[in-house]
Amino acid sequence: MSRFTVAVDGPAAAGKGTIARQIADQFGLAFLDTGLLYRAVAKKMLDAGRCADARHAVSVAATLSLDDLEQPGLRTREVSAESSRIAAMPEVRAVLVDFQRQFARRPEGAVLDGRDIGTVICPDAEVKLFVTARDDVRAERRHRELASHGVTVSRREILQDLQDRDARDRERQCAALSMARDAVLINTSNLTIDEAAKEAVAAVLRKVHPVEA
Ligand code: CDP
Repeated sequence: MSRFTVAVDGPAAAGKGTIARQIADQFGLAFLDTGLLYRAVAKKMLDAGRCADARHAVSVAATLSLDDLEQPGLRTREVSAESSRIAAMPEVRAVLVDFQRQFARRPEGAVLDGRDIGTVICPDAEVKLFVTARDDVRAERRHRELASHGVTVSRREILQDLQDRDARDRERQCAALSMARDAVLINTSNLTIDEAAKEAVAAVLRKVHPVEA
């Protein structure tokens, strides 16, 4: 097979980003963390003090630039929570679809990670992975990640944040988080990140080179 698209979905802090990045490196594919789109809109809304204003959110989403995805402050607890509220607005999601689909069709192939990549954005992706892990494991990982950036929050609060966000992502009316029927499930609860990435790469190989894998 020539170039291909990999969709990586799953709940918060399951290891999607690290896995998706490693797949991109290994196969020479472009990589897009689609969560950054919602985070960047959320940050601009918070900065402007206009969180509940859906029309403003749509205009912010419509004028996002790649630079906006690289700004600092996109991974704070406040932005995380607000991003999942913004992500429940169907009009905001609609504005972001074309950019993601165009990215997915890059000539060199692409990996996108998010919540609705295999179900809505790229239903024809050659490879779909659904990455998950137990709640306590995900909270522990996010705790470590935040601690490494000097943020001190209790594991209990982080667990609550993740569960609240997952509930909003799973229960929303539009593009809710769910596993595509043809996705490969990767449970990273008992795996190191390297083991999880290896399993993901093997799953990609089985799909794109079924004889060699
Ligand atoms: O990194 P983490 O898994 O914590 O979150 P993220 O992937 O950066 O996504 C942040 C939020 O954006 C999620 O909680 C979702 O509400 C939303 N999102 C979405 O709705 N659809 C996507 N394709 C990606 C993210």
